[in-house]
Amino acid sequence: MNATIKRFIIILFLSGLIQHPTLWGQQQPKQNPQLILNLDKANRKVSPTLYGLMTEEINHSYDGGLYGELIRNRTFQDDAKKPVFWKLTDSSTKSTLTLDRSDPLNQYLKVSLKFEVHQGVSLPGLENQGYWGFPIRPGTLYKGSFYAKSIKGGGQLNVGFLAKDGHQYYAKTTVHSVGTDWKKYTFELRTPQDITQTAEAVFVITPTRPDTYWFSLVSVFPPTYNNRPNGNRPDIMQLLAEMKPTFLRLPGGNYLEGGNFANRFAWKNTIGPLENRKGHQGTWGYRASDGMGLLEYLEWCEDLHIEPVLAVFAGYTLGGDHLEGDLLEPFIKEALEEIEYVTGDIHTKWGAERAKNGHPEPFPLHYVEIGNEDFFDRSGSYKERFSQFYTAIKEKYPSLQIISTFGKEFDIAGGKAEIEDEHYYRNAEQMEADATHYDNYDRNGTKVFVGEWATREGSPTTNFNAALGDAAWMTGMERNADIVIMSCYAPLFVNVNPGGMQWESDLIGYNTLRSYGSPSYYAQKMFNNYLGNRVVPITAKDIPLKWQTLSQKDSIAGKKPEEIPAVFYVATKDTASGTVFLKLVNTLDKSQPVNIHLQGKVKINRSAKTVVLKAVSPLDTNSIDDPLNIVPVENEIKGLKKDFTYIMAPYSIQVIQIQTK
Ligand code: AHR
Repeated sequence: MNATIKRFIIILFLSGLIQHPTLWGQQQPKQNPQLILNLDKANRKVSPTLYGLMTEEINHSYDGGLYGELIRNRTFQDDAKKPVFWKLTDSSTKSTLTLDRSDPLNQYLKVSLKFEVHQGVSLPGLENQGYWGFPIRPGTLYKGSFYAKSIKGGGQLNVGFLAKDGHQYYAKTTVHSVGTDWKKYTFELRTPQDITQTAEAVFVITPTRPDTYWFSLVSVFPPTYNNRPNGNRPDIMQLLAEMKPTFLRLPGGNYLEGGNFANRFAWKNTIGPLENRKGHQGTWGYRASDGMGLLEYLEWCEDLHIEPVLAVFAGYTLGGDHLEGDLLEPFIKEALEEIEYVTGDIHTKWGAERAKNGHPEPFPLHYVEIGNEDFFDRSGSYKERFSQFYTAIKEKYPSLQIISTFGKEFDIAGGKAEIEDEHYYRNAEQMEADATHYDNYDRNGTKVFVGEWATREGSPTTNFNAALGDAAWMTGMERNADIVIMSCYAPLFVNVNPGGMQWESDLIGYNTLRSYGSPSYYAQKMFNNYLGNRVVPITAKDIPLKWQTLSQKDSIAGKKPEEIPAVFYVATKDTASGTVFLKLVNTLDKSQPVNIHLQGKVKINRSAKTVVLKAVSPLDTNSIDDPLNIVPVENEIKGLKKDFTYIMAPYSIQVIQIQTK
């Protein structure tokens, strides 16, 4: 290379317009990394609540997602002017469908659907398009209901699931004798065994003679998890159950705060009969039915045998409105009542209300979070607001642990935040570069709840590179699981149908019929399913490094690439069974041997089970049409000694289960 070309390359490199040559491929490790596990010193406790779930209404998480309801816009409030998602089966008819506020069902559902039926060539029906169709499965029972009335009275309505061709009914029945006053009608639809499952269907209500009908709260449910009335989709619940989470952070997220006071998560509007739930405008661009109300969240926890982590509205909205001092008192009262609804026995006012709603048993609750992401509150009011909530909650419920959303070591009247909620949304290299984040935290300071975190690569669900970033980050949380007492990934869900997503890179995807876990889902499942109760200290040597990839923006800004670790590790031991779970992450594009030395007075079994999640390319992923492309594979290592070499596959995440005795 002549001197001028060389000088030119050096200038480009220094200006950041090209990167270090080793960035074009990943750097070769010079020698095997070594991990020395000190099994006699596994003293640091692993929080039993380390891995949990976070939820809110985003990406059609509930309506069109986990919540079983199949009718979209069931109370006709999604649009103030038109009955969106509803239409006539025959657009050529003189019959009409309009929103009507003249004689509502009750004070909550102030609008109903008016259906003026005129005889044409045939009588038109009323059709709901569902959430991207309906999950029609063979041999399945669907339970439905609606409130209705008509002018003449006595007419009958045929209801059913109609194929998109407009001819074939997958299931159909008749509701007889609709009266002239509002009344609830129930029906069942059973599909035959000999159909193929499909989402290509609509729900139809067809009158048998001309009349004018009104409808309110039209509802149809498929079978639900644990057969809960008003319950959840079984396939998605099953994916969650397999993660073996320990808690559910609810109800948000931004969804807790709302765009304004009227649209915060006002829990009292979300309990009781569905016809008493008016719903509200969610924070992610669509209206929430509030079918997933406070009790449904709690029952969701109950079904997974986990505890809620209850976030209470803290007087600050996403729009920036906030209240302080005496003006905050009604919201503090609302939070105390909410805690009573969750935990109070049936002799308390709100415990009795919960019993009336169908759940006499109180729910367990140990953690309450005050607000969400209050570092966005530029008014600086959080410390005061937090202090007011903290004092009132601690006075009535001294044993509850209170989580602040912002501000470590809060010194407030009567105490300090026991736990701080930290959020991290990053790319894979940022996660990897910061995997030692908690290694030097004050071990006696405020505990940490990583209440939202995710490696955001891949869409709608994450790809394998994100799973590598997640796994690297989890090694850091797990190694410090005495400080990081809880963590939960966000967002949890995405409806992958067109228009279903507002936030890219999610954990679990689904359409109307099927659901799947992303590579990140499987990484988390592995980390949580193979977890001890003590951290095993590891001394590491010769950990391979790789050059960070600079974004174009950072290159132009003159930022220099740095070397970051390419291999990550953590080990925990289950003191009851003696199993050591060694987790290793290889982010390199080549196989990487690791020398492992098990130090201590213990003996080990000669064979060890392994679980490996790997990909050919970091861009590899799972999708609705290829849901199991990347899944953990179990295997066994034989002839294990206290010194052994394990070869990690390129782009791999693994757990080695070493049995000590
Ligand atoms: O997880 C998506 C959003 O990210 C949450 O609603 C919010 O808390 C955070 O900003």
